[in-house]
Amino acid sequence: MLTMAPKGTRDILPDEIYKWYYVEEKFREVANRFGFREIRIPVFEHTELFQRGVGDTTDIVQKEMYTFNDKGGRSITLRPEGTAGVVRSYIQNGMSSWPQPVKLFYNITAYRYENVQKGRYREFHQFGVELFGSADPGADAEVISLLHLYFNELGIKNLKLNINSIGCPVCREKYNKILKEYLGIRLGKLCETCRDRFNRNPMRILDCKIESCKNELVNAPALLDHICEDCAMHFDKVREKLITMDIPFSIDKGIVRGLDYYTRTVFEFVSENIGSQGTVCGGGRYDGLVEACGGSPTPGIGFGLGIERLLLEMDSQNIEVPLPEGPDIFIGFIGEKAEKLAESIALKLRTAGIPCEKDIMGRSVKSQMKYANKINARFAIILGDSEVESGKAELKNMSTGETKDIHIDTIVDRLLKYKQGNKNE
Ligand code: HAM
Repeated sequence: MLTMAPKGTRDILPDEIYKWYYVEEKFREVANRFGFREIRIPVFEHTELFQRGVGDTTDIVQKEMYTFNDKGGRSITLRPEGTAGVVRSYIQNGMSSWPQPVKLFYNITAYRYENVQKGRYREFHQFGVELFGSADPGADAEVISLLHLYFNELGIKNLKLNINSIGCPVCREKYNKILKEYLGIRLGKLCETCRDRFNRNPMRILDCKIESCKNELVNAPALLDHICEDCAMHFDKVREKLITMDIPFSIDKGIVRGLDYYTRTVFEFVSENIGSQGTVCGGGRYDGLVEACGGSPTPGIGFGLGIERLLLEMDSQNIEVPLPEGPDIFIGFIGEKAEKLAESIALKLRTAGIPCEKDIMGRSVKSQMKYANKINARFAIILGDSEVESGKAELKNMSTGETKDIHIDTIVDRLLKYKQGNKNE
């Protein structure tokens, strides 16, 4: 136990972190281009926020939250997603008085007690954006186009964008009646959770993952066929805008999303390459959420993008991420005087911004050079008594094997010039 991470969690090791840096940096950069600014929210919140925000008939709240009482007796929950926390922050920090719309993005860990499988973990990472203050279909299109551009710039192909509209509370009320008629005669065949949801929130039944329930739902009426005129108009405009922007999509009447806060547009980007957990990204509008959490009525829209699934997808499409480079130089030495010189050169190089490593293992010169090779050092230099006395040394280019006699004093300048592009120096 002591040496095993808890089920559903994993370490991200130095050998793979460059991929994370790459997708994170790109996400930050694309989000900035669309005018989104980063927000960092707490890992835990009051449990009530998620009960109210995500919805207490959802799988997330009913089955998957990491909830505990802290030492002060408060019920605390590790965030299962980002939207509720960002909404809480929007209200708490008075963001309704900021210039509207308020556009926020985040890069978070999230926690759900789920059945672990490929692409489904108990601690996972999400990029997300939340856009507050605009009910305009243009906001929906903007958020979707951010994702489209992001995936394009990463070189990801063939992610399928599915969209749907799940209406507003007005159409939902009418729809719930129709749905209950359909479900009522099948109630006996549904699981206990579904039966419990029948009166509390029948739409949540459509989200049940149990096979026998899913079979009963195949011909269930779709909300999209029952949305009100305003919602239909909104959906038409979103579709028009996606077409104008050349963003391919399909309508999937089956998307209901697993969180209660959605209204109108919902969407998912789905992969066919990474197995059953193929939804790389999901999001939608939540025009009632800010008010439900205690703020003034404020429309909102956003998405969450699973970073583990994004990286799985990139691997499955063999998308190459530039490999990190080794240090510019390895400084080897033999003898005490040379060690001191090596230390002072290393400090000068590092101060000048040049990545540099030197031996701190007491290795032989031969093993030092082996190590320099392993870490992909671009150049290497070995210092001994004669180098200390003469002030000169041999600079070795590790990829060509070429050597050059140099004055040790010039090493910082040489490497700086090399880095600036004068690679013949
Ligand atoms: P979600 O669909 O629950 O939505 O999660 C968004 C994405 O997070 C999923 O599409 C998936 O890629 C990833 N994800 C979810 N659960 C797991 C898991 N157990 N393991 C690995 N990845 C996972 C939300 O979280 C909403 N807050 C999205 C949103 C933001 N809607 C509006 N604004």
